[in-house]
Amino acid sequence: MASSSFFSSSMVIHVTLILLVLQMGSSYAQLSTNFYSTTCPNLLSTVKPVVESAVSKEKRMGASLLRLHFHDCFVNGCDGSILLNDTSSFTGEKTAGPNNNSVRGYNVIDDIKSKVEAACPGVVSCADIVAIAARDSTVILGGLSWEVKLGRRDSKTASLSDANSGLPGPDSNLSDLISRFQDLGLSAQDMVALSGSHTIGQARCVLFRNRIYNEANINASFAKTRQGTCPNSTGSGDDNLAPLDLQTPNFFDNNYFKNLIVQKGLLHSDQVLHDGGSTDSLVETYSKNPSTFSSDFAAAMIKMGDISPLTGSNGEIRKECSKVNG
Ligand code: HEM
Ligand SMILES: *[C@@H]1O[C@H](CO)[C@@H](O)[C@H](O)[C@H]1NC(C)=O
Ligand SMILES: *[C@@H]1O[C@H](CO)[C@@H](O)[C@H](O)[C@H]1NC(C)=O
Ligand SMILES: *[C@@H]1O[C@H](CO)[C@@H](O)[C@H](O)[C@H]1NC(C)=O
Ligand SMILES: *[C@@H]1O[C@H](CO)[C@@H](O)[C@H](O)[C@H]1NC(C)=O
Ligand SMILES: *[C@@H]1O[C@H](CO)[C@@H](O)[C@H](O)[C@H]1NC(C)=O
Repeated sequence: MASSSFFSSSMVIHVTLILLVLQMGSSYAQLSTNFYSTTCPNLLSTVKPVVESAVSKEKRMGASLLRLHFHDCFVNGCDGSILLNDTSSFTGEKTAGPNNNSVRGYNVIDDIKSKVEAACPGVVSCADIVAIAARDSTVILGGLSWEVKLGRRDSKTASLSDANSGLPGPDSNLSDLISRFQDLGLSAQDMVALSGSHTIGQARCVLFRNRIYNEANINASFAKTRQGTCPNSTGSGDDNLAPLDLQTPNFFDNNYFKNLIVQKGLLHSDQVLHDGGSTDSLVETYSKNPSTFSSDFAAAMIKMGDISPLTGSNGEIRKECSKVNG
């Protein structure tokens, strides 16, 4: 009796200790908004003017930088892997189908990194710079701000095949979109809110040709307009661009959702969010209530930024974003 109670209380102590250690481990591993407050206090004010200058030269760059963060986070977590050039030991993500001739902004990230290195050498990860640039871009184009969590470290490798399989394509159906986001801990609501990113930026003809020529759930005059710069024949005009939001492509508002309601989504994967399915009512909410969209978008961006970061002694702080440290 006495010995069994001795064993159970020592077990309680053991379990408590183990839980404590696990908790310390996981709280150590967590990102925080003040991660660089002593090691790089001027980080945010170093990044922002570089983003401002890039976006003032070309508004679309704001969209491109926002997308860069998404394409980083969805492939093995927000670890800067998308930024790595190919090497003799791996083929990276830049030439994967969803990225090749499509993802932009690498030079802006490199430019930010060199200014950050000058201010705080060897301290700030490329993955965090991408996360800050995505937030700054959203705000510069008129969106709501959020506090970016920091403390990610950079990967030492990248994977072409993981980028090819990890990112949703524009022909995705609604259940595929929901399950891909769910697999990364993001809800259907997060998915719809994050898709609101398509209120800025452009897409290539090859990715929406089938929709504007062959789909029925599209406004006929909108389809006709888009057909004007996107020929039906395979291979012709593939890279011709059209705005994802026909109304205000350089302004971060809720027009994307208004477009979906009148069947003016550009991509198949846009229109499925309002096509008689489970997300219709949320699209309608966002179309009528810009502040609900803004706050849900900000919350979902923070969740997306939390996907599998490298922390502690994992990964490294790259000196140059396009290559691992030598
Ligand atoms: C829901 C699944 C998604 C699909 C299927 C998808 C697909 C696409 C496609 C096909 C393009 C055009 C690419 C090109 O023409 O080369 C695009 C552009 C864009 N996407 Fe997405 N996307 C999705 C979600 C997201 C998310 C979550 C974000 C950001 C958080 C995002 C941000 C953007 C932006 C800003 C652009 C315009 C980029 C530019 O103009 O450079 N997308 N997306
Ligand atoms: C990575 O590739 C880009 C584009 O080819 C090039 O400009 C850059 O210098 C490369 N980075 C390194 C470290 O070689
Ligand atoms: C990437 O695009 C270039 C054209 O800019 C093309 O030559 C190359 O084959 C593409 N790479 C892959 C892996 O598809
Ligand atoms: C949606 O797309 C996935 C992946 O392509 C496919 O397996 C599934 O059958 C599709 N679902 C519907 C309802 O069309
Ligand atoms: C399609 O859009 C045009 C132009 O905005 C509008 O006049 C027309 O009523 C719309 N068609 C339908 C069927 O809603
Ligand atoms: C576009 O091309 C597809 C085949 O590639 C064909 O089925 C369709 O009828 C064409 N549509 C128009 C409007 O020409």
